[in-house]
Amino acid sequence: MKNYIQADEWKIIEEGFKPELNLISESIFSLGNGRMGQRANFEETYSGNTLSGNYVAGVYYPDKTRVGWWKNGYPEYFAKVINAASWIGVDVVLGDEQLDLAKCEVTAFRRELNMKDGYLKRTFRAKTAKGVEVDVEATRFCSIADDETGAIRYTVMPLNYSGPVTLTPYINGDVVNKDSNYDEKFWDEVEKECWNDGGYVQSRTKKTGFEVATGQQFIISQNNIPVDVASKCTQKDKYIACTVTLQAIEGQPITVTKFAANISSQNYPANALAEVLKTTLKTISAKGFETMLAEQAAAWDKKWQHNDIIIEGDVAAQQGIRFNIFQLNQTYTGEDDRLNIGPKGFTGEKYGGSTYWDTEAYCVPFYLATADQKVTRNLLLYRYKQLGKAIENAQLLGFKDGAALYPMVTMDGAECHNEWEITFEEIHRNGAIAHAIYDYVRYTGDEKYLADYGLEVLIAIARFWTQRVNWSDERQKYVMLGVTGPNEYENNVNNNWYTNTIAVWCMQYAIDVAAKVKSESPDKYQVLIGKVSLDEAKEFAKFRDIIEKMYYPFNEKLGVFMQQDGYMDKDQTLVKDLPSSDRPLNQKWSWDRILRSCYIKQADVLQGLYFFEDHYDIDTIRRNYDFYEPRTVHESSLSPCVHAVIAAKLGDEARAYEFYLRTSRLDLDDYNNDTEDGCHITSMAGTWMAVVQGFGGMRVKNDKLAFNPFLPAKWQSFSFHIGFRGTLLNIKVGKEGVHISNLSGKEITVSVYGKDQLVDANDQLLVEV
Ligand code: BGC
Repeated sequence: MKNYIQADEWKIIEEGFKPELNLISESIFSLGNGRMGQRANFEETYSGNTLSGNYVAGVYYPDKTRVGWWKNGYPEYFAKVINAASWIGVDVVLGDEQLDLAKCEVTAFRRELNMKDGYLKRTFRAKTAKGVEVDVEATRFCSIADDETGAIRYTVMPLNYSGPVTLTPYINGDVVNKDSNYDEKFWDEVEKECWNDGGYVQSRTKKTGFEVATGQQFIISQNNIPVDVASKCTQKDKYIACTVTLQAIEGQPITVTKFAANISSQNYPANALAEVLKTTLKTISAKGFETMLAEQAAAWDKKWQHNDIIIEGDVAAQQGIRFNIFQLNQTYTGEDDRLNIGPKGFTGEKYGGSTYWDTEAYCVPFYLATADQKVTRNLLLYRYKQLGKAIENAQLLGFKDGAALYPMVTMDGAECHNEWEITFEEIHRNGAIAHAIYDYVRYTGDEKYLADYGLEVLIAIARFWTQRVNWSDERQKYVMLGVTGPNEYENNVNNNWYTNTIAVWCMQYAIDVAAKVKSESPDKYQVLIGKVSLDEAKEFAKFRDIIEKMYYPFNEKLGVFMQQDGYMDKDQTLVKDLPSSDRPLNQKWSWDRILRSCYIKQADVLQGLYFFEDHYDIDTIRRNYDFYEPRTVHESSLSPCVHAVIAAKLGDEARAYEFYLRTSRLDLDDYNNDTEDGCHITSMAGTWMAVVQGFGGMRVKNDKLAFNPFLPAKWQSFSFHIGFRGTLLNIKVGKEGVHISNLSGKEITVSVYGKDQLVDANDQLLVEV
């Protein structure tokens, strides 16, 4: 665990130059706007340790799968969001020396991510080998007000030097992916152009044929007066640069203001990209840096008004939760139903930027409560549109008759993952996709979604489960063999309780939704059953038979659900008895040893008790929590949040708080020693869950919001905003009680500690503790 980020409520601050932590900082200080994003690489040349990262959402490349031993059914490709052209570069040469922090004496350095206004600022003082000393200030952002654009203001102040300074703003599309399986470059050049104060590169992805034009337009000023530049253009493969030489005067700042845009063939015809790009560059450079920055701040202000969480009395916790909310908003805005939320967002290459079950299981509750309902609807539509591919995916594995197996990892609906134990066995992901439909409808009341899209997905998923189970004569029950549950430290197990439970729930939910749609939208129902060739009587009878006769492993003596058959045969040593030198297990133990142990990577049985808490009494939940948590190593970033919510429900406030801290500062403090690969974006939504569902005890019950909050001992108060069916509420939990402010023009009844409270439009009330 590192501890180098300075505490601040609204900013992430790194003080002092720490090249050994640069990869981590490049992840933490990343910028994004839902459409594009980038790691916090330096603008000027840097020959030290760095991972260059610029990404355009939805632009991917199917990298040929590489495995040791090929198995039938493996996907041939792993679709990756790829490193794209970089628009941040500004080379600086002082006299004849390149400004490169790896080769200078750096006497001051500060990086600051301003989460309130949405920009990154870096300042430093550096002395070259020949003694030229400069102060540099670089401010940049990816605009969320206009998500195809961004800007940089880069100022060099010569402190002891007058003489030539060469500045080269450039666009570099000649980039590589560190995780490329065959060291291939993924882009071909289409065209490029360079003019006196700008230029662009247009490239096309190999195989997938996405085209992106990335361009720059810049202004240079000296001593705050614009300079007429006469630049020298350089063009290389997928690269253009404009070199400008000025005579620097000691004490007079030189500023390059660079306006940039990424225009993608996802949104325009490929042959129009250059024109759209040029018009965009013209518009934003005429608008100017200050206006763009002000628009950025205003756009962020609007977001914060809807989803800020304020914690009084604990700056580290405050910084942690804001960082999580900030990164989630940088990653996904919900504007486009072709996009999704990669586990690392725009902060690194790991996980390929693809979609995992993380979206449905962890991110949906955050977006439901903090954004317009169309945002979550778009996440659901993303899967709806991939239903055909999910059916093909199931067919490849031998399933039939319209059964769908959604992929574990995907970009376009096709499965990308290539470890058999996950690709073929971690099938519980299908359940999370059905559960997200349930969550969405429960939260928004948008039942029309079920008739239009949801039921079709539910039927295909339920069909999969009917074929994936088999009848056991021995048990006289249905069983599910050879699966991997959410706990990836067990593979190929029989009767994973969570998977069996969610499978049955999916079938029941499909039956219930079908009945609803049939009675409320009979015409749509008829069309749908025709489309999917549903033999209602026969297929639902099969669903019902499985629902009735499914086998669930249970230990009578302990009164707990068994994670899988045979779990109690394992040596039951607890995590507290593991030497700390053995942790994390995934870095210290052989895989075989992990598989044989009882240690659990992340919530598994408890994931089921989290999703379906209303189906179980509190003693059952407690017994299972008390049994499983001490065996859980939380080596997935997705683990602590679910435990925080359950601990809070059980009244274990101290443990709930401990889990919360672990998730909220996971990346800021590099808890798992892996932030250099990128931030854990999807688990950040879990952090939000820990506060709102954990400490706030928020649930939706019978079409109403219900709160059952407690105040963590260290805090003076905490408050959060929640949007619910056309109302916007602020809930503040303080020592005196729960303040509910209704910020909308519509009254609402909410339940607090089990009692209904009517809050008038634009009114507030206090429920005392
Ligand atoms: C977790 C999975 C998760 C993936 C991406 C893995 O470590 O075990 O549940 O989907 O990371 O976040």
